[in-house]
Amino acid sequence: MRIGLVGTGNVARALATGWSRAGHDVVLGSRSPKERAEAAELKGFTLVGVAEAGAHGEVVVNATPGTASVDVLKVIDAADLAGKVLVDIGVGFTEGGDLSHPNYSLGEEIQAAFPEARVVKTLATVDAVVMTSPESLEGPATIFLSGDDDAAKTVTKGLLTDLGWPDASQLDLGGIGTARGQEHFALLFVGVAQAIGSYEFGIRVVPQGTVA
Ligand SMILES: NC(=O)c1ccc[n+]([C@@H]2O[C@H](COP(=O)([O-])OP(=O)(O)OC[C@H]3O[C@@H](n4cnc5c(N)ncnc54)[C@H](OP(=O)(O)O)[C@@H]3O)[C@@H](O)[C@H]2O)c1
Repeated sequence: MRIGLVGTGNVARALATGWSRAGHDVVLGSRSPKERAEAAELKGFTLVGVAEAGAHGEVVVNATPGTASVDVLKVIDAADLAGKVLVDIGVGFTEGGDLSHPNYSLGEEIQAAFPEARVVKTLATVDAVVMTSPESLEGPATIFLSGDDDAAKTVTKGLLTDLGWPDASQLDLGGIGTARGQEHFALLFVGVAQAIGSYEFGIRVVPQGTVA
């Protein structure tokens, strides 16, 4: 599958590596591809402009800061987003470290800004290393999906499987409004990371068993 990742940071590079390994045709979209091409961490990646990444992808992935994502994605021709699966991984923070979308979510903002795209929020609850190596955790973790379009979530589930997230680990939370929970988890994520001294952890939904 052709995947256009928007962003060239930790998340975009990790996902590009993971999905390329799985056989996908991946490009990274930068606001300044010529300058960024000089960066050591981007050697070996296919770097294009943001609009070109949007045109390339059968699936387009937002991996930019949540406060900037909508403006960055607007560079993509509307026709290149219409009908496409738009996977959103972003979380927005203010300069003071608060959520930039309290009582709302970036996922919803993107869906409202690009109504013809089929937005799926996922991978926002784990760090970039764990995104592409869930098997490195000591036990199975849960990864969440939010979106209004079931077919788009099915495509996204396949891409999660390609990163190593088994079907049983993938939990569909429902419509794009449920992206709020994924994004607001960032507050707990930071607290847990500080408490255990590592960003590389997962969380697992453990339902109650049969009570005798
Ligand atoms: N890091 C994680 O472990 C993690 C986990 C879950 C979710 N997230 C979320 O995923 C998104 C990407 O995270 P990241 O860690 O990859 O971020 P990052 O390292 O800061 O990279 C973000 C990339 O977005 C592009 N960008 C576009 N507009 C920008 C702007 N106004 N300011 C800065 N960069 C801009 C930049 O690429 P160009 O300069 O080439 O355009 C930059 O390399 C964020 O929303 C983050 O909250 C991150």
